Parts: sequence; structure tokens; C-alpha cells
Amino acid sequence: MKVLQSSFAQGFIKMANDGYMQGWHERNGGNLSYRIKEAEIASVAEDISFHDKYMPIGTTVPGLAGEFFMVTGSGKFFGNCSMDPENCCGIIQVDDSGEQYRTVWGLKNGGRPTSELPTHLMNHEVKKEATGGAHRVIYHCHATNLIALTFVLPLEDEVFTRELWESATECPVVFPAGVGVVEWMVPGGREIAVATSKLMRIYDVAVWAHHGMFCSGETFDLTFGLAHTVEKAAEILVKVRSMTSKKQQTITPADFRKLAVDFGVKLDERFLY
Ligand code: 13P
Ligand code: ZN
Repeated sequence: MKVLQSSFAQGFIKMANDGYMQGWHERNGGNLSYRIKEAEIASVAEDISFHDKYMPIGTTVPGLAGEFFMVTGSGKFFGNCSMDPENCCGIIQVDDSGEQYRTVWGLKNGGRPTSELPTHLMNHEVKKEATGGAHRVIYHCHATNLIALTFVLPLEDEVFTRELWESATECPVVFPAGVGVVEWMVPGGREIAVATSKLMRIYDVAVWAHHGMFCSGETFDLTFGLAHTVEKAAEILVKVRSMTSKKQQTITPADFRKLAVDFGVKLDERFLY
């Protein structure tokens, strides 16, 4: 089978387009990666070529040795992924040391994987271990309202989690572990990758101050749905704060504890101050 006929590639391209339609991917903003299953890469073997040379990842991910990933390309526009997937996206393989990658499909005309490859791969490594291999999707988007909140809320996990949970009843059910916050850092390198992957050990969502968010999930739908839920809550909070500095009423810590019992989720008391 050709890569573009596979359901994983089609799911990848659909998600990129869905994010673009939300307005979270101006120009080349955002990036997406998917840890491909063994059976999936075997099914597209006819389309894979091992002639490219290895390049440094910029960090070390021994837990991903030999694994294949579908990734968006650096400088590529999400809005073009569906029209021109072989230029905008690619498949890479990590070498046995976890220090290098090679392109085995796509990224035509000298394209390179996203500049956030260190963060994507370090998040994948952490999540693969933490979820027994269940999580396969890492998504970075420039979600407008969440970014706006990073200018007005303290950059603390407890505050962001609680404020987002209060903004929509479904939030503590969709992300019961909460969200982590990374202070402003230079993007594209190992340092921000280390800080983000440390948070990804605990959370499925990491907010990048004045930049965007990273989400992790099992499937394209669940990961996109997570980002969508976070951004929707952020939008509600921006509207509330635009109307008033004081909420007339809200969901209380006692309400969250009741919700946790009925929905069978564990909510850390750290967020129920
Ligand atoms: P890339 O085009 O290299 O993926 O960078 C986009 C981005 O959002 C950087 O954080
Ligand atoms: Zn970005």
C-alpha cells in the first residue's frame, strides 16, 4: 500500500486540516507527530526508502530506538498538508542510539522535520513509558485564547488547571490530571523539550507561555479533542474576564469532589484549593 492510502496517514492529514480550520495554525505555526505501529509501517513498506542519511535529533531518545514517526515539516503550512502531503509531511525513523533520525518518506525537495522535533520525541518517549505504549500522538498548536490567558494568569499549573476546570464542566473529566505550564522559553531546542517532557510525565497538556500548547493522546481524535476542549474552556474564561473581574458564581471545590465521584475520575486536591 502507498503511505497516502493508509488510515494513519489519512488521520494525520485530517487532524492537521481540522486544526488549520480552527485558526490555530497561522503560517507554519504548530506541528504534529504520530508514533507509527509496526503493522502500519509494514503495510506501507513498498513506499519507504532507506537511502537518506542520518541527521542529529538535537536530543537523545533511547526509548524510541528504531521507531517510525509521521511528522509535519519545518516551515510547512498546516493549511497545505491535505493538498500537498508529500512536501508538508514525512515519515522518519529514529536510529538505534536514539540520537539521530533519517527521512524514509515525504519531506520532498529537501524538507526537514519540525523544528520542535526534540520536544515531540522527548514527549513521545515519556508518554510511551507512562502509558504502556498507548499514547501515540503529540500535537502542538497556537490556540489563541489559551495564549491570551498566559498574559493575565500566573504561570502556575494549579491556577491554569483550576481556572480551565471551572470554565466548562466537562474539563475535569477530559483532563483530570490537569495542565502543566512552561514559562516563556526559546522554542525549537533541547531545553524547552526537557522542561515540557518533565510536565508530560504528569499531564497530557502542557501550556507554553505566550506561544501555544502541547497535547498527548492515544488517537488523532482524542488528542485533537483534548486540545479543542482546553481551548474552548480558555475562550469561555477570556469572555468571562472580558465582562467582569469577579465571577458571580462558579463550580466550587465541593462540586468538583462530587463530580469526581460520579464520573469516576481522581482529581488532585492540589487543584481544589
Ligand atoms: P515548525 O514550522 O518548525 O514546525 O515550527 C512551527 C512552530 O510552531 C514552532 O514552535
Ligand atoms: Zn509553535
